[in-house]
Amino acid sequence: MKAGDAPNPLDGKRGKQRSVHNTYFTLPVVLLMVSNHYSFIYSHELAWVVMVLFIFAGVLIRQFFVLMHAGKTQPAYPAFGVALILLAFWVAAPSASSPSGTAGAQGPDQAQITGLIEQHCVQCHARNPEHAGFSAPPAGLTFENWDEILGQKRRFNRSWPAATCR
Ligand code: HEC
Repeated sequence: MKAGDAPNPLDGKRGKQRSVHNTYFTLPVVLLMVSNHYSFIYSHELAWVVMVLFIFAGVLIRQFFVLMHAGKTQPAYPAFGVALILLAFWVAAPSASSPSGTAGAQGPDQAQITGLIEQHCVQCHARNPEHAGFSAPPAGLTFENWDEILGQKRRFNRSWPAATCR
C-alpha cells in the first residue's frame, strides 16, 4: 500500500478467517491445552466424542457473547452449550460394568497396580527420588512397596474399596 499498489484482498480474507477461528476456538483450545490434567478428556475410548462435544459447547457459549456484544441476548446458546458439556460428562463417566483399561471387572490386581506406580510415580515418590528437582519425597509420600501403596490408597482413589484390592 505504501508503494501505491493495490493490496491483495486474499490477505484480508485470511486475516478475517483466523479471527473467526480465534473467536470460536479459544475456549476449546485452552481446554485441550490443559486436558492432560483431566484424564477423562483424553483417556476414554470415546475421547474424540468428548472432545467434539466440548468444542461445540465452546463455540455455542462464545456465540452467546458475540451476539451479546452486538446487543442481542440469546440464552439458548449457552443453555445448549451447557447441555453438551453435561452430555460429555455422561459419555466420559466411568461405568462399573466396563472399567477402562485392561484390568477387567474385578479391578486391577496387585502386580498391575505396582507396575503402574513404579512406571509413573516412584521416580518422585521415593525416599531418594530419581526425578530431577526432587531431593525428598513430595508431600512426604513414598510408594516403594505394597504396604506404602495400600497405606495411601484412599488418596489415590477415594472410591477404591478395600475388598477389590487382591
Ligand atoms: C514429577 C514428580 C511426581 C510424580 C511423577 C508423581 N507425583 Fe505425586 N506429588 C508430587 C508433588 C510435588 C506432590 C505434592 C503436591 C502438593 O504438595 O500440593 C505430590 C503429591 C501427591 C499426593 C498427595 C496429594 C494429596 O492431595 O493428598 C498423592 C496421593 C500423590 N502425589 C500420588 C501420586 C501418584 C499416584 C503418582 C503416580 C500416578 C504420582 N503422585 C506421581 C510429585 C509427583
